[in-house]
Amino acid sequence: MEIKEKKPRGQALAEFKQFIWNPRTREFLGRTGSSWALILLFYLVFYAFLTALFSLTMWVMLQTIDEYTPKYTDRLSNPGLMIRPKTDSLDIVYNVSDSSSWNASVSALNNFLLSYNDSNQADNNVPCNFTSGYNLQDDSGDVRNHPKTACQFNRSLLASCSGDDDPTYGYSRGTPCVLIKMNRVINFRPEPLFTNQTYVTVNCSAPKSADGLLATYFPSSSSADANSYGILSLKYFPYYGKKAQTNYTQPIVAVQFSNLTMNTDYNIKCAIYAKNIKFETRDNFAGRVNFKLRVNQ
Ligand SMILES: *[C@@H]1O[C@H](CO)[C@@H](O)[C@H](O)[C@H]1NC(C)=O
Ligand SMILES: *[C@@H]1O[C@H](CO)[C@@H](O)[C@H](O)[C@H]1NC(C)=O
Ligand SMILES: *[C@@H]1O[C@H](CO)[C@@H](O)[C@H](O)[C@H]1NC(C)=O
Ligand SMILES: *[C@@H]1O[C@H](CO)[C@@H](O)[C@H](O)[C@H]1NC(C)=O
Ligand SMILES: *[C@@H]1O[C@H](CO)[C@@H](O)[C@H](O)[C@H]1NC(C)=O
Ligand SMILES: *[C@@H]1O[C@H](CO)[C@@H](O)[C@H](O)[C@H]1NC(C)=O
Ligand SMILES: *[C@@H]1O[C@H](CO)[C@@H](O)[C@H](O)[C@H]1NC(C)=O
Ligand SMILES: *[C@@H]1O[C@H](CO)[C@@H](O)[C@H](O)[C@H]1NC(C)=O
Ligand SMILES: *[C@@H]1O[C@H](CO)[C@@H](O)[C@H](O)[C@H]1NC(C)=O
Repeated sequence: MEIKEKKPRGQALAEFKQFIWNPRTREFLGRTGSSWALILLFYLVFYAFLTALFSLTMWVMLQTIDEYTPKYTDRLSNPGLMIRPKTDSLDIVYNVSDSSSWNASVSALNNFLLSYNDSNQADNNVPCNFTSGYNLQDDSGDVRNHPKTACQFNRSLLASCSGDDDPTYGYSRGTPCVLIKMNRVINFRPEPLFTNQTYVTVNCSAPKSADGLLATYFPSSSSADANSYGILSLKYFPYYGKKAQTNYTQPIVAVQFSNLTMNTDYNIKCAIYAKNIKFETRDNFAGRVNFKLRVNQ
């Protein structure tokens, strides 16, 4: 059996000292000064190169980013619809004789419509008395993102759903109003189904079994026609984005349901009709919204 020879303690210490600094070969930690200098130089160049590469990549990427429009919007190319008042399960169910069951809906509508007050609209937005086409605004010359004005959407356009004449929006009388809004999509211009229209239409339906249910729209294509649709005027499009168009007010359509049969479920489907809005079977909110309506007594 071989027994390893143990070095004396003093010798090990001397060897270690010599490793740290060897006066004979003038080596520090086993390398000469010039060797250390070369290594330092190598790492200096190496990291300088990495930094430069990273900065270059970053710079190139930043060049392709536009501060005013999101880079990826394809997910939103089909604008969704949403209702107000909104609950998690998208149902509007209340008891007409119990005010605490619809009080929250009325408060939600009050809050949502605050910015639509005629006085607020007069302060923040412009009248846009033109009756056709989009509200197109160029960037003026070199001024990127010239601030854009937005057209007034007066609360009074919602007539009996404006809360002015009926502060309960019909809820206390069993004729509830539901607001329909299209999600904002920057630079999106909905195209009317017919070229002679200056708006896109919104309509709601319930299954055949719901015969008798009436829906009245504000604003509508024709106030005289009982079969008219809700309209979203083209003058509220395109939306230029939060930064460019700070005072933008989304157009909405109010639907007032009436002649309901009490204590009965209605499954309502509302949709927006435009040439460039497609209904995808996958997505229940692309261009449409479904909700349950029930008024108890
Ligand atoms: C309804 O809400 C108002 C305030 O918005 C409140 O004063 C009233 O007490 C509420 N009524 C019920 C029955 O909850
Ligand atoms: C907005 O209008 C409603 C009724 O039209 C009114 O009750 C409310 O006080 C107004 N709010 C503001 C901030 O002007
Ligand atoms: C909105 O209401 C304000 C205040 O009443 C009025 O000055 C303005 O002309 C209205 N705008 C539109 C587009 O009707
Ligand atoms: C937005 O509204 C404010 C007042 O609230 C007004 O001073 C400003 O000029 C408006 N901006 C545009 C672009 O109209
Ligand atoms: C529209 O408003 C402009 C000023 O903003 C005015 O000069 C023009 O006469 C108005 N047109 C109509 C049809 O009211
Ligand atoms: C618009 O065009 C459609 C079909 O092209 C037609 O049915 C409708 O009457 C027209 N409406 C107006 C107001 O001209
Ligand atoms: C809404 O109106 C369009 C025509 O503008 C019609 O094709 C469609 O069937 C209607 N949809 C509903 C849900 O009523
Ligand atoms: C109201 O609904 C009933 C059925 O529930 C129907 O017979 C009647 O025609 C409806 N009224 C109107 C004005 O449509
Ligand atoms: C509605 O409320 C009234 C009064 O609180 C009550 O008598 C009735 O049973 C309620 N109806 C339903 C379907 O809950």
